[in-house]
Amino acid sequence: MDQLDQLITEAQRAFSAAPDVNALEQAKARFLGKSGSVTELLKGLGKLDADARRTAGAEINRVKSAIEAALETRRDALRDAQLQAQLAAEALDVTLPGRGLRQGGIHPVNRTLERVETLFRSIGFEVADGPEIETDWHNFTALNTPDNHPARSMHDTFYLEGASEVLLRTHTSPVQIRTMQAHAAKYAGGAMPELRIIAPGRVYRVDSDATHSPMFHQVEGLWIGEQISFAGLKGVVIDFLQRFFETDEMQVRFRPSFFPFTEPSAEIDFAFMSGPNKGRWLEIAGCGMVHPKVLANGGIDADRYTGFAFGMGLDRLTMLRYGVNDLRLFFDNDVRFLRQFND
Ligand code: FA5
Ligand code: MG
Repeated sequence: MDQLDQLITEAQRAFSAAPDVNALEQAKARFLGKSGSVTELLKGLGKLDADARRTAGAEINRVKSAIEAALETRRDALRDAQLQAQLAAEALDVTLPGRGLRQGGIHPVNRTLERVETLFRSIGFEVADGPEIETDWHNFTALNTPDNHPARSMHDTFYLEGASEVLLRTHTSPVQIRTMQAHAAKYAGGAMPELRIIAPGRVYRVDSDATHSPMFHQVEGLWIGEQISFAGLKGVVIDFLQRFFETDEMQVRFRPSFFPFTEPSAEIDFAFMSGPNKGRWLEIAGCGMVHPKVLANGGIDADRYTGFAFGMGLDRLTMLRYGVNDLRLFFDNDVRFLRQFND
């Protein structure tokens, strides 16, 4: 029987030595497999007589059970070790500080846009909108700038290939026509209340230098009523600029100019009277009294109503407010530049 007990010891050793489940299955085969030692012993029983077979059979079964138990023990141990290893590999250190969400920021030109809308809304202006792909008629003709009018060459226009009737709008002034038409239609035949809107948005010209970009932003302003004057225009614009820049240390110059759609017309130049950019003039807008022909194209009775309009460069306002000297920086989308406006 010593020999049988030794077999048990041998199996226990072999199983303990198996580093993983595969090795363990191979070790098992050596003892319990088809030609394993225990199986061979069982096969030998046939040669014994009945009595001896019974005793030997019981002994061999005892050995077989012991070996099976050792196998099961090792299997459990290996399975346990594997689970522990996996848990360790997938462990989460819940004490680590979170990575946090990277927050985006508001583009400086959008900050200006939001400010402009808030300030104009506070004095009763509504915000209107128009298409960036505009008809030639709205962008030029209706604004008293017929085909071949020399003023068309002031705007180096992007035309669309194969579509001569549409272009990328060169200014927000076509929204004047659209809102006047809608307003006139809404109040046709009755008393027409004042029309007071701003229309901010993207505009396009073949332009590129430190103060001009091919895509830029304007905000159109339009106020039409029975008593609207150039004095009102100056008041609204200057009051807006003082509130926008939060100072009255500024000079605003209405420089006589020409636009086919206003008469009289002016360009608005701006300079701070204090601060780091003191005395540096920058043109920020064009403006004037809406031309009677333009009122008529908008469906408005030019004998009864007058109006003023302006078109201000939002990117220029942003340059001035933040002291940025090259407007193209706004559109390079360099995060190092943009981040400065969001801390
Ligand atoms: C116009 O676009 C007229 N529609 C303005 C107007 C509206 C006049 C209503 C009368 C009545 P102007 O081309 O000057 O005008 O442009 C207006 C403003 O847009 C300029 O003063 C400037 O601030 C800005 N601007 C013009 N071109 C560019 C450009 N390429 N890049 C950035 N800003 C520009
Ligand atoms: Mg101009």
